[in-house]
Amino acid sequence: MTPPLCAQDYAELARSRLDPAVWAWLESGGADEHTAQANLAAWPALRLRSRVLRPMAGAHTRVTLGGQTLAHPILIAPTAWHGLVHADAETATALAAAATRTPYVLSVQSGTPIEALAALPEPPLLWFQLYAQARREDTLALATRALRAGARALVLTVDAPVNGVRNAEQRSGFRVPDTIRSVHLDGLSPPAARPAPPGGSPLFDSGLLDAAPDWDDVAWLRDQLPAGTPLWLKGILDPKDAHLALAHGIDGLIVSNHGGRCLDTLPSTCEALPAVAQAVAGRIPLLVDGGIRRGTDILKALALGAQGVLIGRPVLHALAAGGAPALAHLIQVLRGELEVAMALTGCRTLADVDARVLY
Ligand code: FNR
Repeated sequence: MTPPLCAQDYAELARSRLDPAVWAWLESGGADEHTAQANLAAWPALRLRSRVLRPMAGAHTRVTLGGQTLAHPILIAPTAWHGLVHADAETATALAAAATRTPYVLSVQSGTPIEALAALPEPPLLWFQLYAQARREDTLALATRALRAGARALVLTVDAPVNGVRNAEQRSGFRVPDTIRSVHLDGLSPPAARPAPPGGSPLFDSGLLDAAPDWDDVAWLRDQLPAGTPLWLKGILDPKDAHLALAHGIDGLIVSNHGGRCLDTLPSTCEALPAVAQAVAGRIPLLVDGGIRRGTDILKALALGAQGVLIGRPVLHALAAGGAPALAHLIQVLRGELEVAMALTGCRTLADVDARVLY
């Protein structure tokens, strides 16, 4: 095989190297995977408008996101347990992130503590993703720990109060091995689940949702955090929720359907993004993830109103294929593809990218 040239090449390499159950864990979507597939299909279905002979001298991909200036608009999405795909686990991801000046949104389900990544000789720009815990104090403790370690923003994921129905993963028999732990959750109390009584509601009688977070918990967390702490919500698809987020003083939104892993038949993020962008109307920054595999996908996401994108599965594919160097290469490839797309649509900077690049 020729060396990997694009995200899909890394996906194929990963598939050939990983245990089939681990592959099923990382690749699967919810139920029949309509949304996971729609994420992938929607970006390439949009057509770009070619513009020629436009001046390109001084072109760049810099973007400012909530006061932080980034070299390019690609971030690493939070994904659990990188140790499942490479022995260097989250350290490999952090090295690649630092080498490519890519913000790394560390998952609360990381097997490596944030302090260890922050202590690397050249640490990446770290953001920290968390879920609201059953006890509010636990959520705050996680946030405080991440901020102390140097996280520059907090990302509260709100679209997964329960796990999606992931049949492909279930069929594979995937189990998290004992060697892999979510180190940030050690010592915190998980939600108390009880078996539903015979004939009872499988979920509603399980107690799992009794402590599920709501907007009051978001308001409480916003209030407890030191003033000026950037707090993002991840998993927003509906403009009504975007309005509520604005009313709760949220600093940025990630339009996401969790890579199609939660509720199947939700719209693709490409379909959902324009309405959220319209609701937010530039008041806070917007990111989007789900199915971003090409520089052209990134350009389209920006054209539809996002200021940047996150990549999830491709990170795991590259790590599985070759650890930190492979991931750094993949990010450079995506950046290069974005630059080609900008050049051929006549966009000198990302400020030039808007709906006019689309048919
Ligand atoms: C995820 N995602 C996720 N999101 C989150 O907020 N916390 C997490 O711990 C995880 N874990 C996780 C594991 C795996 C294996 C996958 C594939 C995804 C969702 C992730 O952040 C992101 O929203 C999607 O992966 C984006 O879609 P793509 O790029 O994978 O198509």
